[in-house]
Amino acid sequence: MKKLLIANWKMHYGPIKAGAWIRAFRRERLPKELDIAVAVPFVSLAAARSSLGRASIPALAAQDVFWNEEGAFTGEISPGMLLEFGTEYCIVGHSERRQYLGETDEMVSKKAAAAQRSGISPVICVGETKIQRARGEASKTVRSQITAAVSQSKSEGKAPLVIAYEPLWAIGSGKSCSPQDTKEMHTIIRSVLEKKLGKAASAVRILYGGSVDVRNVAEYMTTTGVDGALIGGASLDPRNFGLLCRAALPA
Ligand code: PGA
Repeated sequence: MKKLLIANWKMHYGPIKAGAWIRAFRRERLPKELDIAVAVPFVSLAAARSSLGRASIPALAAQDVFWNEEGAFTGEISPGMLLEFGTEYCIVGHSERRQYLGETDEMVSKKAAAAQRSGISPVICVGETKIQRARGEASKTVRSQITAAVSQSKSEGKAPLVIAYEPLWAIGSGKSCSPQDTKEMHTIIRSVLEKKLGKAASAVRILYGGSVDVRNVAEYMTTTGVDGALIGGASLDPRNFGLLCRAALPA
């Protein structure tokens, strides 16, 4: 399984800047052994696609999706709409959406299943808060998030699930999770997936996210159980993200 790096711009870059980012990133030398995607705001998907043309690197990802295909759901975007831009991945249940928009495990699971049905790989985000970790509840929290999130998903087919383990205290904080703790959490996630999905769990990539940067990416990529990374802040500059992709797999 190739390792996967996903740039998560979050709420940055409208169409003009998105197009410029893609054009600049396309000039970077990128390791062929990596899958690379970029999660852009909905309004920038068209510009990103037009700057990419038919190229598939980086693959396009959305940052959210709704669970119905169409109807009276003001403001929402369906999997089918995302497919029109050739979107291959879609982040669901990012902790910022859980925190600021009240997304629940139930909503995350419906979104993940809908994306998958349409052939878009959902990137399901899970992770514990600082308090939960301090109380020794990190694994319990993540176990229950994963169990809920995959309850309506299948892992076969053309759009396998992706999981991103993102401890909340590590996001945007400069305090990344230690490789030892990361390994432990990824092992727990893998075992829950095996229990819930059986053999299909082997197609699921488990990414780490939270303050990944050029300096620490190689360490994560060589940590047992880590199949890639979800990168926020360090992906905003296309040259820096290119550097990060090269640093991920040092020759
Ligand atoms: P960060 O964000 O890399 O800026 O910590 C990661 C994320 O929230 O996906």
